Amino acid sequence: MASTTPAPDARLIAALRAARDVMVLTGAGISAESGLPTFRDALTGYWATFRPEDLATPEAFERNPATVWAWYAERRLKARSALPNPGHLALVTLERWLSVRDRRFTLVTQNVDGLHVTAGQANVIELHGSLQKVKCFRCAEPAPTWDETGKPPRCAHCGGPLRPDVVWFGEMLPVAALNAARAAAERCDVCLSIGTSGMVEPAASLPRIAAQRGATTLTLNLDVTDRATPPRFEVRARAGAFLPALVDAVCGIGAA
Ligand code: APR
Repeated sequence: MASTTPAPDARLIAALRAARDVMVLTGAGISAESGLPTFRDALTGYWATFRPEDLATPEAFERNPATVWAWYAERRLKARSALPNPGHLALVTLERWLSVRDRRFTLVTQNVDGLHVTAGQANVIELHGSLQKVKCFRCAEPAPTWDETGKPPRCAHCGGPLRPDVVWFGEMLPVAALNAARAAAERCDVCLSIGTSGMVEPAASLPRIAAQRGATTLTLNLDVTDRATPPRFEVRARAGAFLPALVDAVCGIGAA
């Protein structure tokens, strides 16, 4: 575990200050300091206790709809009571600093907890859906409301079982979201990859696409993740500690 937070590299600060287009990819690590478990952290990650194939696949839902619905309902409640942390808030500050200078900022998240939106982020692409959205497992009709006592609740249109509107293993990502995320990776000058183990495609390829197009890349994580394409900057630190320092340096906050 990184004990002290390194100071942001002056070259990274300069690259962000000069960037016309910034893309950020986040994973569960950015929400860890909001009290939400990650997936692959050795002792505390969800997959240390549960098997993804038992909870996060269509087959798991068909086998045990009540169990899968209950697990996501519990996660939905935890996410609703979680607060954005300084890492989320720093990215909002960066987006606003770029936007008032007519520069682009795109936040692509694998997270389904909604904390980036709660923090005030404007341009968010939720690649894996959202815990706060529900749809019918049978007809895919979105359900604006549902009976929380249902196990699971039923669809008002076809009577099928409702499911969380998140992307399960083996399912396709929402096409528009994925296309927008790929376009952001292809055009950005700087790509920040924050709090993700980089294990799940197609999200994991986005920083590589950016790097291949010549973007300056940062990986910010607690663990070193083996990357086929090493980033230009690799920082091992808590997102909630490093991001505020980086964004303050870029935006000149606190500067004389
Ligand atoms: N600051 C920065 N990084 C952190 C922090 C923190 N405070 N806490 C944990 N991390 C790092 C961990 O070291 C780990 O490398 O965040 C990473 C989280 O990785 P995962 O748990 O694999 O989560 P993620 O990369 O988002 O998983 C991708 O896998 O199970 C699916 O759909 C699920 O969206 C998820 C996808």
